[in-house]
Amino acid sequence: MYEPIHVPVMLREVLEAFGLRPGMAVVDGTLGLAGHSLEMAKQISPCGTLVGIDWDTEMLEVAGKRLEQVQGVELRLFHSDYRRVFECLRDASLRGADAILLDLGLNNAQIDDATRGISFKQSGPLDMRMDRSKGQSSSSFLNSAGLSEIERVLREYGDERWARRIAEVIIDRRPLETTEDLVDCVLAAVPPAKRDKRIHPATRTFQAVRIHVNQELEGLQDAIEGAALCLNPGGRMAVLSYHSGEDRAVKRAFRALSDTKDFILLNKKPSVPGEQEQRDNPKSRSAKLRLIERKQS
Ligand SMILES: C[S@@+](CC[C@H](N)C(=O)[O-])C[C@H]1O[C@@H](n2cnc3c(N)ncnc32)[C@H](O)[C@@H]1O
Repeated sequence: MYEPIHVPVMLREVLEAFGLRPGMAVVDGTLGLAGHSLEMAKQISPCGTLVGIDWDTEMLEVAGKRLEQVQGVELRLFHSDYRRVFECLRDASLRGADAILLDLGLNNAQIDDATRGISFKQSGPLDMRMDRSKGQSSSSFLNSAGLSEIERVLREYGDERWARRIAEVIIDRRPLETTEDLVDCVLAAVPPAKRDKRIHPATRTFQAVRIHVNQELEGLQDAIEGAALCLNPGGRMAVLSYHSGEDRAVKRAFRALSDTKDFILLNKKPSVPGEQEQRDNPKSRSAKLRLIERKQS
């Protein structure tokens, strides 16, 4: 079996924040390869329930196999969206959760899978969808959207200062079919002397288009608030975000929840990975962890 590797980010901090005990009910709304869930499942065994949600069936399959090694935990896995935590809990016959984790974005297995066309480092078709059962592929978006729409996406989701120029080249060179086609557009648009030396010139464009086709920021704030309302009294929620758009939504959601006085912010400023973790797992570098607790009634 294909064994993708994904090192769970800020695992120690998440586990410490949750303080899990046997018998608890936990929701992992972004199950991925079950890196966090595997450890959470061990801590709630025996008699605990783990509700795992992912909108990518391939992740669910790998995660399900990994989680089989933990005894004494009821596993309820859902091919769904974390915007539907309430429905998943109901379908698992649970009234609420003692801990909810959202580890936003995508994992290495998805990035490294060339057939998804998510990474500019991999040669493949321009698709970028995490849930390939629905939605619009990135080639379909780039080959049909207008100039101002492409420019907006690049600027809003990628903070790309060359958004207009890149959008113009994309329109000029359509149809785009492969990751190389998109990389070539960016390289043709951004003058070599003006490139940011720290990152590949196509990084922001790929991030922006991926966020757009997966609608990663649409309703994120509402989704986080909705999920937090599924916590049992005393229950905690942890959200890991990886770029400013995500963190902004988490911050706003947590602020709105704490304004109701039913929730307490556990860290006013987000926690970030320690130096050692950032060295060992470079993909953790942009991570921000925010924590909230539902007050005991
Ligand atoms: C960063 S990975 C999670 C990694 C996981 N914590 C681990 O350690 O293996 C994010 C996962 O969330 C999934 N995902 C992203 N947005 C989602 C959404 N709206 N609903 C459900 N799953 C989502 C992705 O498919 C991906 O598998």
